[in-house]
Amino acid sequence: MSDDQPVMLSGEQDAFARGGNRLCFVDPRDAGRCIKLLRADRSPGQKRREAPWIKRLKPLNAFDDNWQEAAVYRRIERRIGPAAWDLVPRLFGPVETNLGPGLCSELLRDSDGRIAITLKQYLWQYGETTTLSQLLDSFSARWQALGMPSRRLLLHNVVVQCQEDRYPVALKVIDGLGWPDLVPLAWYLPALARHKAGRRAVLLREAMNALLAKQARGDDYGVHGWLEDAQRSI
Ligand SMILES: Nc1ncnc2c1ncn2[C@@H]1O[C@H](COP(=O)(O)OP(=O)(O)OP(=O)(O)O)[C@@H](O)[C@H]1O
Ligand SMILES: [Mg+2]
Repeated sequence: MSDDQPVMLSGEQDAFARGGNRLCFVDPRDAGRCIKLLRADRSPGQKRREAPWIKRLKPLNAFDDNWQEAAVYRRIERRIGPAAWDLVPRLFGPVETNLGPGLCSELLRDSDGRIAITLKQYLWQYGETTTLSQLLDSFSARWQALGMPSRRLLLHNVVVQCQEDRYPVALKVIDGLGWPDLVPLAWYLPALARHKAGRRAVLLREAMNALLAKQARGDDYGVHGWLEDAQRSI
């Protein structure tokens, strides 16, 4: 296939995951990559109309998650470098598809080839194992040391890669990257970046405890961040 032909995706129903803003497809050219498309019902224009007036001053691109993510990755490459790839999937860049413009990145799979699950799902299914706690400690230390840019880290935006017997070996943040502040000083002040990243890691731990408490109360899992077995084997 030549590069200027669109990548053919079969249709929305074949997305392996549907987030609040994007559909995620396995890249038909390479099973180690995924392609994310904006959901038609969550267009940048629609999102801008729903935003508070102060945020509506931002350009339309700021409401396009794929555009925004690609811009953040360029800054991560410049300011943090390859060390970041232990904490976030690699980005391969924009691709044209028959369903519209997409963004291609590394698809995180377990050692058995299945698509890795979110931290939210892992906790819900297996609880907090010792290995997961240790992994979380090293993830948090690295996240802080590198001053990784992100919004609040959400449990459904962190993926746990496992070896056999659901033994977790890596935590990676697949969404929500970039400083959300109106004036993102943390891009220019590494000490501030480290401070904010450290806070995000502390809040992630709190979110984990809150999820486990929610489960203990018998509450619902919620809509986001669950992959059925069939979706994981695409
Ligand atoms: N690189 C990846 N590797 C494995 N799974 C992924 C990857 N990217 C996304 N996923 C899965 O797809 C789901 C949705 O992806 P993503 O968070 O990018 O969508 P979104 O619509 O931007 O999310 P949100 O609802 O947080 O706005 C994730 O919760 C995760 O289960
Ligand atoms: Mg998400």
